[in-house]
Amino acid sequence: MDNANQFPSIWHLAERARKRIPHFAWEYLDSGTGMERLVDRNRVALDAVHLMPRVMGGRYTPDIKCTLLGAEFSAPFGIAPVGMSGLMWPGAELALADMARTKNIPYGLSMVANETPEEVAKRAETNAWMQIYCPKEADVLDDLLKRSKAAGIKTLIITVDVPVGSRRERQLAAGLTVPPKMDPATLWRVAKRPFWALATLKHGQPRFKTLEAYFPADQMSEGAKLIGNIVDGRPDWDYFDRIRAAWDGNLVLKGLMDPADADAAIAHGADAVWVSNHGGRQFDGAPAAIEALPAIAEKVAGRVPLLFDSGIRGGLDILRALSLGADFCFLGRGFLYAVSALGAIGADHAYDILRGDLENNMIQIGARSLIDLKSLKD
Ligand SMILES: Cc1cc2nc3c(=O)[nH]c(=O)nc-3n(C[C@H](O)[C@H](O)[C@H](O)COP(=O)(O)O)c2cc1C
Repeated sequence: MDNANQFPSIWHLAERARKRIPHFAWEYLDSGTGMERLVDRNRVALDAVHLMPRVMGGRYTPDIKCTLLGAEFSAPFGIAPVGMSGLMWPGAELALADMARTKNIPYGLSMVANETPEEVAKRAETNAWMQIYCPKEADVLDDLLKRSKAAGIKTLIITVDVPVGSRRERQLAAGLTVPPKMDPATLWRVAKRPFWALATLKHGQPRFKTLEAYFPADQMSEGAKLIGNIVDGRPDWDYFDRIRAAWDGNLVLKGLMDPADADAAIAHGADAVWVSNHGGRQFDGAPAAIEALPAIAEKVAGRVPLLFDSGIRGGLDILRALSLGADFCFLGRGFLYAVSALGAIGADHAYDILRGDLENNMIQIGARSLIDLKSLKD
């Protein structure tokens, strides 16, 4: 059976991924924080957005092309930054970068992923975006901006919704360490996942390739702690202003949930704002991102593009977010489920699922283009 029939949705790919990668990697990818109420709330609230079907539209193919921050993309969705992508599937970043180029969608590379901006930009070309947390050391920040620019990256994402690392209880219980400690329990879990083990042997253990330039080679085994020190910048608006002054490309602020923060981001020169609750991984008491979206859309009022993520698992969810005021959507887990399930071809398959589902559902509601979706909320 081909992938289209065997894994027809992101949910099918997630189930396959769960069985194919080691337990600690799955728990890292899939988990939220606390009781994971926000992960559930993101889902429930998306499901509660209903759109009225319209009939008698005749035969047409919806136009889902989209212009964002000066570039034209084939669809209104992209790949959100995911740290340690190479832990879920070796070389995941490279597969996603190739897909971003061939399918023409943006790929936000996380600074704590396992490939460098230089390598990813070579593959994704102009579709490579770079995401940073907030490095504490000014020279690390400056160097990351310099490297991104030299790699030809035009769009920088600053993620601000991790003021401090959150507790992720499932990850703790799974014994996740960075880098993984090869104790008997871990070795047993790896041995039960032979495809992952072989792929990792071939590709090599995941390394923090972007950041390892900034810590001493003899301290690599302390990876997680050193990375924690580097990214622990506790951002504020002064920090943002400093980046704005240093970066002459597009600057996107990711991780907003409050209209006042969106307003401030625009006042401080953000070129786009990104509504997100980090997929329910940071603060379990927050509202669903889709619930926060309409008030932010009203406040932003088209001054800058409005990006959205948290909970999207299909084309219908993208349609829901666009109808409530988002200009563009991203998925974090969705693309990584796909690559974990099927290897590199999973990236293309996820794109095809999302595109097909989006177009199909647009026809169900009689929408011919993304402009038509904007009018649905009026
Ligand atoms: C395993 C994992 C790692 C993540 N790492 C980062 C990161 O390094 N930088 C970042 O800005 N967001 C990170 N995120 C958040 C995503 O960019 C995105 O906001 C979130 O996944 C959206 O929710 P979704 O997974 O339901 O699509 C991560 C998410 C996951 C699931």
